[in-house]
Amino acid sequence: MLKEPIEEALNGQINAELYSEYLYLSMAAYYEEEGLPGFASWMRAQADEEHAHAMRIYDFIIDRDGRVTLSGIDSPPTEWSSPADAFNAAYEHEVEITEMIDELVALAREENDNATENMLQWFVAEQVEEEATAQDILDKLNHVGGDGTGLLMIDKELGQRGDAGLDASETKAEE
Ligand code: FEO
Repeated sequence: MLKEPIEEALNGQINAELYSEYLYLSMAAYYEEEGLPGFASWMRAQADEEHAHAMRIYDFIIDRDGRVTLSGIDSPPTEWSSPADAFNAAYEHEVEITEMIDELVALAREENDNATENMLQWFVAEQVEEEATAQDILDKLNHVGGDGTGLLMIDKELGQRGDAGLDASETKAEE
């Protein structure tokens, strides 16, 4: 049985993960408009991952005989000043999510809820990967700067996600 503060906080995290899905779908639409289908495809795969993150918590709440309560999802931004600016926003968003997970772990410890803390450790590890992946792509973007050819090369690389490409292992990690 979940304690009430834990249930409330986990429901809040479901909302945050679904917002992340919205955010990355919005970024995918932005990249489509910018003529960068590889970035768009990468963001769509990222959005799918965020949905899986939300469902992981959803299922945990049900397994612990808690109650899932869904709340409104904020509208994400729709415009960014450049492809790099959008990716920087994605990176900063992941840093915020890491902070939220750390706060949840602290709450689970406070409430002596070992099962929740154990479940959250998956997210602790996942956030290390999420931040590192976003940082890596951001570094590449900063490296090419305004160079269109460099940008298209990154776009091609990111478009490989989901098959044999850059982050295939990551997209498969959601079981
Ligand atoms: Fe669900 Fe990207 O953190």
